[in-house]
Amino acid sequence: MPQMEADKKFTILAGSGNRPLAESIGERLGVGLCRSVVTRFPDSELYVELDDTVRGCDVYVVQPTGPAVDGHLMELVLLADASRRAGAARLTAVVPYFGYARQDRRAKGREAVPSRVIADMLGIAGFQRIVSVDLHTPSLEGFFSIPLEHLSAVGALANAIDDSVSDDAVIVAPDLGAVKLAESYAQLLHRPIAIAHKSRLSGSDVKVHGIVGDVAGRVPVIVDDMISTGGTIEAAIKALLAAGCRREITVVASHALLVGPAVERLSALPLKRLLVTDSLPLPERSSLPMETVSLAPMLGETITRLNIGESMSELLSHR
Ligand code: R5P
Repeated sequence: MPQMEADKKFTILAGSGNRPLAESIGERLGVGLCRSVVTRFPDSELYVELDDTVRGCDVYVVQPTGPAVDGHLMELVLLADASRRAGAARLTAVVPYFGYARQDRRAKGREAVPSRVIADMLGIAGFQRIVSVDLHTPSLEGFFSIPLEHLSAVGALANAIDDSVSDDAVIVAPDLGAVKLAESYAQLLHRPIAIAHKSRLSGSDVKVHGIVGDVAGRVPVIVDDMISTGGTIEAAIKALLAAGCRREITVVASHALLVGPAVERLSALPLKRLLVTDSLPLPERSSLPMETVSLAPMLGETITRLNIGESMSELLSHR
């Protein structure tokens, strides 16, 4: 079979990181998921096997590397290895949430830089391309020697709240790292921005020293790439309330990890809306005013374009 035709055969393979998302991408594209076995031996070693042929196929492995991060990463690597050995023509990792992206440099002496290690690992495992969404650090792209397609959920999330954002809303970056993201939302929603001055005290605790910008009497829309323990959002909201903002707060984030005390922390805050994507599995029931925007349309479109070799430029994020 000529190579061009072989490349057009594609299949979607899912790890256990977010099977419902992989299924809904498959449904949109009218294909079932490639059948596979991902299990563990009694000593906790992973076992991965493909039940369907992938020979000559363009294989898309859908696996966010959220908690348990290391296990999901290892699954991703082994799914690539199994596909490569089974004759896949081309391998793409679709990693809607990319774990370890926050550890992209040495903040103090003798630390590891896991972002770089993971980037190397995915290339060595056989992936020829990575697709990810709202990376914590967009410059992570430079860590990869293989192409990385960096997509953004900002357009879809902003669209979901556009009609209901009040005229006197202010877009709030809960730390300096979120300023570019806040600028993107501010541009789409035509609202001003404010910035929280945050320091991290530990993995789950942060301190906000103050707010830069005019928030008194305004309705805050806090935007971030991820919510992990909820410490950043909690501290930002407390500082915003102290600065006189209105108690109708919207929080928008691309990735809802919601680990440790997150749900408890967020439940105690005057949240009107919490808008996130389905990059990671979400709690089935929650006391939070949570709404979800699915990444399936964007990821489905991406897979189609990559598979047939169409331009990706209008889908890519250049934050
Ligand atoms: C930090 O720079 C990130 O953009 C998030 O603000 C942070 O990782 C969220 O973590 P947590 O919810 O634990 O404060």
